[in-house]
Amino acid sequence: MKLKILYTTLLLVFGILSLFSQHGSGKIIMLYDNYQFSENTISDWGFSCLIISGKDTVLFDTGARKDILFHNLESLGIGLSSVQTLVISHHHGDHTGNIFPVIEYNPDLLVFLPSTLNGKFIRMVENYGPRAIVEQDNRQIAHNIFLSGEMGFQIREQGIVIITQKGLILISGCGHPGIDRMVRKVSKKFKKPVYMVVGGFHLEEHSDDEIDEIIEVFKEFGVEKTAPAHCTGHIAMNKLRKAYQHNFIRSGTGKVIEF
Ligand SMILES: [Fe+2]
Repeated sequence: MKLKILYTTLLLVFGILSLFSQHGSGKIIMLYDNYQFSENTISDWGFSCLIISGKDTVLFDTGARKDILFHNLESLGIGLSSVQTLVISHHHGDHTGNIFPVIEYNPDLLVFLPSTLNGKFIRMVENYGPRAIVEQDNRQIAHNIFLSGEMGFQIREQGIVIITQKGLILISGCGHPGIDRMVRKVSKKFKKPVYMVVGGFHLEEHSDDEIDEIIEVFKEFGVEKTAPAHCTGHIAMNKLRKAYQHNFIRSGTGKVIEF
């Protein structure tokens, strides 16, 4: 009888655990950013982060300078050999700067490029060994990890979307299409609230009123936590800190955000 109860309890526990594992859990590690978080890392203008979820490891953007990216990787004890997928948000050098050093290090990568990097660039990437794909839609790239789909008019850009138990996480490289528009579009496309927004929000030239309106959109679409970085700008950073209080996550090189 006792054995039967134990057996039933174990089945119940495994059932609950497997239910939770259907949704993404993992971490986002900031590798390259304008802000420093860990003392042993170097900050610089640019963006790169690593997403680790289950067996999947995705590198999103590559930062600008090779010496800084590789210094931060070494300081954080991260090797690139475990990365399976590289995604580039848009064609600016502070995000694409280390594509070739990265693929030289790991030629087995699958690389997703924005449509502004096509033709000759794809051939240059593939000469190193990786397969390069230009994708404009919200394609799945790993378990619970998707491309956001390309957005914007002047500067086309894509983000990363992670599906978690609590809602979506949107990681933005620079936010050129408008971070509020990206949140709105992702929420509608994936039919879920955006739980957390991470990365560059590109609000350096926005007025106080415009930033306030963007924070309102965040709240309207369910954004509970925010980890602004890179090109967000000091004024927007302070406003977000004030609006989100303990749900404001201070980002920067070396920061690990668990989800
Ligand atoms: Fe940028």
